[in-house]
Amino acid sequence: MIQTLVTGATGTLGTALRQRLTETDYAVRAASRAPPKESSTDIDWVELDLLEGTGLESALENIDVVIHSATAPRGDTAAVDVQGTKRLLKAAEAVDVENFLYPSIVGVDEIPFSYYEHKRVAEEGVEESTIPTTIVRATQFHSFIAELLDSVAKLPLWPLPTNVPIQSVDVGEVADVIVDHATLTASGRTDPVGGPTIHSVGELAQAYRRTRGLRRPIIRFPIPGKTMAAFRSGHATCPDYRVGTTTWEEWLTERYPHETERTPI
Ligand SMILES: NC(=O)c1ccc[n+]([C@@H]2O[C@H](COP(=O)([O-])OP(=O)(O)OC[C@H]3O[C@@H](n4cnc5c(N)ncnc54)[C@H](OP(=O)(O)O)[C@@H]3O)[C@@H](O)[C@H]2O)c1
Repeated sequence: MIQTLVTGATGTLGTALRQRLTETDYAVRAASRAPPKESSTDIDWVELDLLEGTGLESALENIDVVIHSATAPRGDTAAVDVQGTKRLLKAAEAVDVENFLYPSIVGVDEIPFSYYEHKRVAEEGVEESTIPTTIVRATQFHSFIAELLDSVAKLPLWPLPTNVPIQSVDVGEVADVIVDHATLTASGRTDPVGGPTIHSVGELAQAYRRTRGLRRPIIRFPIPGKTMAAFRSGHATCPDYRVGTTTWEEWLTERYPHETERTPI
């Protein structure tokens, strides 16, 4: 049985990974800064803080494969995503892990956004490691787009950069690809994982509004600067890699099942 460590195991991707790994007969150690108190027969929870550098040695004991999905996009990405990844790599090198998998994001080398720049630097650290590694880039998760739209949904008008192309993907389908690579032989840099359709932000918002039975006006709100220009150029998409099959519309119907029947507001 392959012994796997999943960092960021409470997160969006980490949760999907845990489910698939346990279903696929892996032994799963799951790391969090605050692991759940209740014990689980399927999962060995451990405490790990990449910022503090605590819990590394015990998390990595007898581990064959690491899937490093911890990240701090709303926190100190230089400290967690860059330095934290370096710390984890060093500890993984010390125990000769067979495969260190790093999920990343499509376009991190083209889009000048500090989180993405830190992900790219972290990728470089992964590639320079002395242990075998695998890097899987994915496009934005459907759930991430929904979270962003949930936050504008309360506004009377929805100001959005409507012409930005996005190829969002079901996180479960990204987890499936990562688990396929979670073997004792590393794959290096793999093909990226994108969703089935490229929609503009305006189209994504319209489908979201329709599914939720809402009627708030969507207003085109162009955001100036190099970051949005890079997004507008399509650098966050991978049109040749439409790996996911669950469309945004199908995902929305699952996510907001009762809301289509609501009286529009
Ligand atoms: N979200 C997207 O749309 C998207 C798209 C493509 C690729 N990705 C990549 O997929 C990976 C996972 O993203 P996600 O969206 O699933 O992230 P997420 O939901 O924000 O989860 C990240 C996890 O990291 C853990 N974490 C944060 N700070 C930590 C620290 N100091 N030490 C240890 N753990 C820490 C947190 O766990 P605790 O709070 O339990 O410690 C959290 O559950 C990332 O590499 C991300 O770049 C994401």
